[in-house]
Amino acid sequence: MDIGVKNKNYFIAASSKGIGFGIAKALSEDGANLLIGARNIEELEKAANKLSRFGGNVIYEILDASDYNSIKKWISFGINKFGTVDGLVVNAGGPRAGYFFDFDDGEWEKAFNLTLMSAVRMIREVLPYMIEKKKGSIVAVTSTSVKEPIDVLLLSNVMRSGVTSLIKSLAIEFGKYNIRFNNLVPGRIDTDRVRSLDNLNADKKGISIEEQMKAECSQIPLGRYGQIEEIGKAGAFLLSEASSYISGVTLLVDGAKTKTVW
Ligand SMILES: NC(=O)c1ccc[n+]([C@@H]2O[C@H](COP(=O)([O-])OP(=O)(O)OC[C@H]3O[C@@H](n4cnc5c(N)ncnc54)[C@H](OP(=O)(O)O)[C@@H]3O)[C@@H](O)[C@H]2O)c1
Repeated sequence: MDIGVKNKNYFIAASSKGIGFGIAKALSEDGANLLIGARNIEELEKAANKLSRFGGNVIYEILDASDYNSIKKWISFGINKFGTVDGLVVNAGGPRAGYFFDFDDGEWEKAFNLTLMSAVRMIREVLPYMIEKKKGSIVAVTSTSVKEPIDVLLLSNVMRSGVTSLIKSLAIEFGKYNIRFNNLVPGRIDTDRVRSLDNLNADKKGISIEEQMKAECSQIPLGRYGQIEEIGKAGAFLLSEASSYISGVTLLVDGAKTKTVW
């Protein structure tokens, strides 16, 4: 199926690895032009080299999603090179883990900037271009914590619920400009971040990483972790013409791990 992304321009935040890279890969396999961004320049360059093998035009620029100046610089770099933007993926590293008394105001503010304000700021910077051409698609990567709070991930539970509500509100406000907003929700996707979490948990319990992963998989009806290519295709679909009447949804890519009906 041609999903309609060829020669379109997509800006994918936090995309040198993991889920962001998975979305970038799916788009570039279908001929899209990409701006990717992350903090580590060497990893970014490696990712851009891998992605350019698929034929699309891939550019990269350093991005720290928690810093507004960095976001502005990243987006103007993309606009200067491509002239416009058709789709945006809002993504960043996760906020610190911990319980209520682990965090002072400074930690709450850091998480607010990294997770919620990064979404507000990225969207603010790209919207004028989308409003002008009355078309655009924005996808925010969140977490199943917006459906069922996750133990020890208090900051993520709170800030990502804010992002989910932001996305739904903007889908309503900007629908008249034919701009779509959707949430993409990873369950347990096999990325570096998840591997290191599994290692930490295995160490804490005094078990092997294989045993830890087996315990995690037993909670997932499909019985396994998702791959970045699988969530990547779902993200590319939400950004593409193939999902032209889908806006304001929260799409779970979690192998049925989340037990809520809605
Ligand atoms: N994997 C899952 O199953 C899962 C489940 C629920 C939620 N999530 C959330 O989904 C997001 C992506 O997770 P992932 O598993 O793909 O992580 P990952 O494999 O660790 O990749 C993270 C990517 O984000 C970049 N990044 C991190 N902090 C950044 C920042 N401040 N500004 C710009 N780029 C940044 C990293 O590059 P640099 O370090 O070089 O910046 C890297 O490219 C995270 O917020 C995570 O909490 C993931």
